[in-house]
Amino acid sequence: MTRILITGGGGFLGQKLAARLQTKGTLGAARIAEIVLADLTPPPPPTGPVPCRSVALDIADNAAVGRLFEPAFDVIFHLAAVVSGAAEAEFDLGMRVNLMGSIAVFEAARAAANSPIVVYASSVAVHGGTAPDLVTDGVELNPQTSYGTQKAMAELLLTDMSRKGFLDGRGLRLPTVSIRPGKANAAASSFMSSIFRDTLEGRTANCPVGRDFAVWHSAPRTVTDNLIHAAEVERAALGPNRCFNLPGRTDTIGAMIDAMTRVAGPDAAARITWDADPVIAGIVAGWRGHFRPDHALALGFRADASFEDSVRWFLEDDIVRGA
Ligand SMILES: NC(=O)c1ccc[n+]([C@@H]2O[C@H](COP(=O)([O-])OP(=O)(O)OC[C@H]3O[C@@H](n4cnc5c(N)ncnc54)[C@H](O)[C@@H]3O)[C@@H](O)[C@H]2O)c1
Repeated sequence: MTRILITGGGGFLGQKLAARLQTKGTLGAARIAEIVLADLTPPPPPTGPVPCRSVALDIADNAAVGRLFEPAFDVIFHLAAVVSGAAEAEFDLGMRVNLMGSIAVFEAARAAANSPIVVYASSVAVHGGTAPDLVTDGVELNPQTSYGTQKAMAELLLTDMSRKGFLDGRGLRLPTVSIRPGKANAAASSFMSSIFRDTLEGRTANCPVGRDFAVWHSAPRTVTDNLIHAAEVERAALGPNRCFNLPGRTDTIGAMIDAMTRVAGPDAAARITWDADPVIAGIVAGWRGHFRPDHALALGFRADASFEDSVRWFLEDDIVRGA
C-alpha cells in the first residue's frame, strides 16, 4: 500500500494528477492507501474510493512540512511553485518557495528515512543563454530567469540527495503544458494556452509573439501520465541522471492555431489579437523550442501525436462553455 503526497495539490497539474491517481487506484504494483493534497489553502480532493485528504501547507515553513511527514510518504509529487512570471517579478518570493520550499520538502523526505520516491516538476527554463538550438540530454544548465535558476538549483540537490540514498528523485523538465484550463496565470508562457482556451471559450486573447515562434509543448493528459510514469520507473533504470527533459512536441504558434481551426472551426482563431509584448517576448525568446529527450524516451515517457489531440482533449476535459 502506497501513501502519496502532492505538494501544489490545488494547482492545475496537482488537481489533474490527483484525479488520475484516484481513477487508477494503484501506483506500480501497489494499491494507493491515501493521497494527501497540500497547498496554501486546502485543495478540493477528488472523489472516489481512494482515501484523500487536503491540508493547508506553506512548503517554506520547515516545521509544518516536517509535521506533515509523520507518518512518512512512499511517493511525493513535488509540484508546488511560484511560476515563471511571478518568480521574475518577485525575486524573494521565488527564492522562498521554489528554492527554500523545495529544500524543505526534500529535507523532510530525507528525515523520514524511508528513501521515498520524489517526483519533482522542473522546467525547460533551466536551459537558455548559449544553449544549442536543439537541446539534447547533457546540455549544461544555463537558466536566464530567476524561475529557471531556482528550478536548476533544486534539480542539483535532488540529484545529490538521490546519490546519497536520502531519497529516490526523479526530476522532470516539463515542456509548456498547453492547453491549460482556467484563468490566465502569471507564467510568461500563459499566452501559449490563452490563445486557444480563451478563444475556444468565446473570448479574445492576445498573442505577444509572431506565428513563427516555435513552442515545445505537451498536453495536460500526457504530462499527467508522464508524472505517474516517473514514479513507476524502476530505480535501477534511471542511472545517475535523475533530472531530464520530458518528451514533447515542437510546433509553431501558427501551426497550433491551424490545428485548432481543423478541429474546432475558424471562429476561435479570428478572436486572437497580435499586439507585441516586449517583456513576455524577451523572456520566452530565451527558451528553446527544439529538444531530443533520448533518456526520457528510453525510459518510456511519451509525447503527444498531434496538437489536434490537445485541442480535442481540451474540448472533452476542460472547456467552460458560455464563460
Ligand atoms: N504548467 C506548465 O506549463 C509547467 C511547465 C513547466 C513546469 N511546471 C511546473 O509544474 C508544477 C505545477 O505547475 P502548475 O501549472 O500546476 O502550477 P500552478 O500554479 O497551477 O500550481 C502550483 C501550486 O503551488 C501552490 N503554491 C505556491 N506557493 C506555495 C507554497 N509556499 N506552499 C504550498 N503551495 C504553494 C499554488 O498555490 C498552486 O496551487 C510547478 O512546479 C511548475 O513550475 C509547469
